[in-house]
This record gives sequence, structure tokens and C-alpha cells, in this order.
Amino acid sequence: MGETAELRVDGKLLELPIIEGSEGERAIDIRKLRGQTGIVTFDPGYANTGACRSDITFIDGDKGILRYRGIPIEELAEKSNFLEVAHLVLFGRLPNREEFDNFTSSITRHTMIHEDFKRFFGALPKDAHPMAATSAAIGALSAFYSDSLDPRDQRHIEISVHRLIAKMITITAYAYKHSVGQPFMYPRNDLSYVGNFLHMMFGTPCEEFEVNPVIEKAMDLLLILHVDHEQNCSTSTVRLVGSSKVNLFAAISAGINALWGPSHGGANQEVIEMLAAIRDQGLSAKEFVERAKAGDPSARLMGFGHRIYKNFDPRMKIIKKACDEVLTQLGIHSKLLEIAKELEEIALKDDYFVDRKLYPNVDFYSGVIYNAIGTPSNMFTALFALGRLPGWIAQWLEMHQDEDFKIGRPRQVYTGPTRNPYVPLDKR
Ligand code: CMC
Repeated sequence: MGETAELRVDGKLLELPIIEGSEGERAIDIRKLRGQTGIVTFDPGYANTGACRSDITFIDGDKGILRYRGIPIEELAEKSNFLEVAHLVLFGRLPNREEFDNFTSSITRHTMIHEDFKRFFGALPKDAHPMAATSAAIGALSAFYSDSLDPRDQRHIEISVHRLIAKMITITAYAYKHSVGQPFMYPRNDLSYVGNFLHMMFGTPCEEFEVNPVIEKAMDLLLILHVDHEQNCSTSTVRLVGSSKVNLFAAISAGINALWGPSHGGANQEVIEMLAAIRDQGLSAKEFVERAKAGDPSARLMGFGHRIYKNFDPRMKIIKKACDEVLTQLGIHSKLLEIAKELEEIALKDDYFVDRKLYPNVDFYSGVIYNAIGTPSNMFTALFALGRLPGWIAQWLEMHQDEDFKIGRPRQVYTGPTRNPYVPLDKR
């Protein structure tokens, strides 16, 4: 037996194995704990719980390190593109030229959605949040492809993965088109993945849409930065829901819903609305930071803080730089960017934020770019979902291949009433 940890319970000494990851992270293996002692662990928010082994993403929150399959996010951001990174996280390695061309071509050729599917959007009110529309539409894919839903059939998996990544851009763009009452645009196979999305989102049948290469590159970069982030709330949701052996579309739809919340991906929308409110109410950044410190729930500094990053979020650094470059290239002066920078500067020097190790996260500047390229704020989280999709799928695939695969089923510590008699209705 390798290294162990000792635990004394009810006078009995228990030796628990310690397992170690490839980057030296260690975990006490408590799988036999309940069987041998009748005791479970208690860890609300799972802040100390490793739920799986994973080869996909490594994060060192103290050093601000993020790597997909070992490759630093900074290198991928500079040299790669979204579909290549998707291949990397899904299949464990960068594709060679032939694999990349085949993957890209297959994704491109699956972007159309069933004509009947368009009517699905028509059933939603115009002001439906795009996350409600997207999660419902992705869930509905399982109704359209009921012949290929088996999570243990390799062919079913392969076709579902390609369909999902391909149709996600179409569905996301259609959710937007429906909300503004514009006609749905068919995908164009001559465009890149991101170019195609921009065409379906911003193009109209009235005139030829030209993809702006600055916007295309910026959007591709943002997608790369969102691809995976190990066992966060939405990814853990995909794994937990998927552990019941439900089909991939259903598990991903659940993940999209988890992402929507303001503590998670929904923060990107909240950040831009916070910046706009500061601008419109004529508040100074200093005043807002003081309100956030006072615990005013309407003034939480959105886009700040992270469960894992306690030094800096490497994605934020890349986005902040891109933000300056993209806005300069597009010739846009953004008051919102100015306010964001002031807030960051003040908060980073303030004891409240320093003591709690609160730093700007991925969501702090991303919305400024989305905003500058004409995306409405209620679409921001849907764009996060678009980027996170390959990560969710990779985690779902990995879970199904894991020799420790089990349905997810946490325990609890019951604190309700003890044995109670049933009192008949007329005696209450
Ligand atoms: N503004 C003001 N105070 C904050 C903030 C903030 N943004 N974030 C945390 N705090 C305080 C919190 O009140 C607590 O203070 P105290 O110890 O006095 O009670 C302390 O810092 C620790 O915070 P926590 O909420 O216990 O930390 P957590 O790890 O449970 O939550 C978080 C992490 C991201 C949910 C939280 O920092 C937050 O709500 N941030 C704003 C929302 C946000 O930007 N979310 C995006 C996260 S990154 C992308 C993603 O995951 O999708």
C-alpha cells in the first residue's frame, strides 16, 4: 500500500489510501469510510471533494495556471483556434492536418437543423431569455434524434457529439433571431465555425453579410478561453445528470441551465449591466466599491471572486489585453471599459478584496468585447455555453469511460424531526 492517512473514529483507527494526481495534487480516498465506520463526510458546496479523476484540465488556483490536456491556455489563445481546441479536449490531443480537416468538415456539414425545429422557437415568447431557449432546444434535440441516443454505443456517441457542436451555433443564433423577430439564416458552409455563427446571428436575407475578421478572431479567442474549467457547477451537473446514463443532449441541456445562474456563467451578463448602471446612475467606481463592501446585495462586484483562483484568473488577463486590442482595431471608445478598469484598480488595492483574495474573473471583461461587437447582454451567457460545450462533452465522454463509473448520489446528514406519528386530518 502507498501513502495513507489515519482517521480515528469511535476509538477505531482507520487507514485511508492517499491517491496522487500527475501534478502532485493529493486526495484521501474515502470510498470505504461509510462501510467501515457508518460515517460519511460533510462538505457543502463540495469545496474539498474530488468527485472523479480527470485527464482534461489542470488548474492551479494559487499560481493562476490553466492548461487543457497539459497545454497552457496562453499558448492555445495565441496559436490555436476553437475547433482545434475542441478536438484537443474531446480526444486528448491536437489533431493532425487530416484529422482537423475531417473534424471541421463534419462539424460544418451538420450545422443545419431540421426544418420542423424552427417551429419550436415560434412557441417561445419573444422575450424568452436565450438561455431558456437554448437549453430547451438542446434538450429537444433528443426528440429529433431518438435513433441515436445510447450513451454506450460508439456510433451514437460520435454522431451526437458532431451534431451537438455543429447545431449549437445554429440554435444559439436562432434563439437570438427569434427574440428580435428576424428571419432565421441558413448556415453557410464556406465560412469558419465562428464566421458561420456571426453570419447566422447578425446577417439578414436583405444583404450579403461580410464577416469582420477582427470580430471573428475575438469571438474565437473568447470561445477558446471558455472551453473547459474542470469540475465547476455546470460541468459537475453534466456529469451528475449524465451518470444516470441519460442521453448526451439531456445532460448538456442540464449543464446549460446550471451555467445560467449569476454565480456562474450568468455573471457575464450581470457585469455589463452593473457597468451600465454605474454609468447611467452617474456613480463613481469608488462609490460602487464601497457599496459592494457594505454587503449591499444590489452592489455585489460581479465578475470578481472565484472558488479556485486566489491570485489571478489567467483567462481574465488574456481577455483584458484582447479587449484593448479589439476596441482599438474597431475604433470604439467604451465608457464601460473605462469603468471596469477603474473598478479593478480600486478593488485590487482595497483590503476587503485583498484579504478575501477576490480578483477579476473570466466574466469581468468578456462582456465589454461582446458589447463592442454588438451582442445584446442577454446573449452573453449563451456565448459562454457555446464555448463551454466541448468541455462538457469531453467530461461526459471521460465519465462514461471511467472504470470507477457510478451513478452520482451524494449522502446527507438528516436534521429533520425524528419518528413522528401520523395524525388523522380531523384530529389536527
Ligand atoms: N463582491 C463582493 N464580495 C464578494 C464577492 C464579490 N464579487 N465575491 C465574494 N465576496 C465575499 C463574500 O461575501 C465572502 O465574504 P465574507 O467572508 O465576509 O462572508 C467572501 O468574499 C468569500 O466569498 P464566497 O461567496 O464564500 O466564495 P465562493 O467561493 O463560495 O464563491 C463566487 C465564489 C464566484 C460565487 C463569488 O466570488 C461571487 O459571487 N462572485 C460574483 C459572481 C461571479 O463573478 N461569478 C463568476 C465566477 S467565474 C466564471 C464561472 O464560474 O462561471
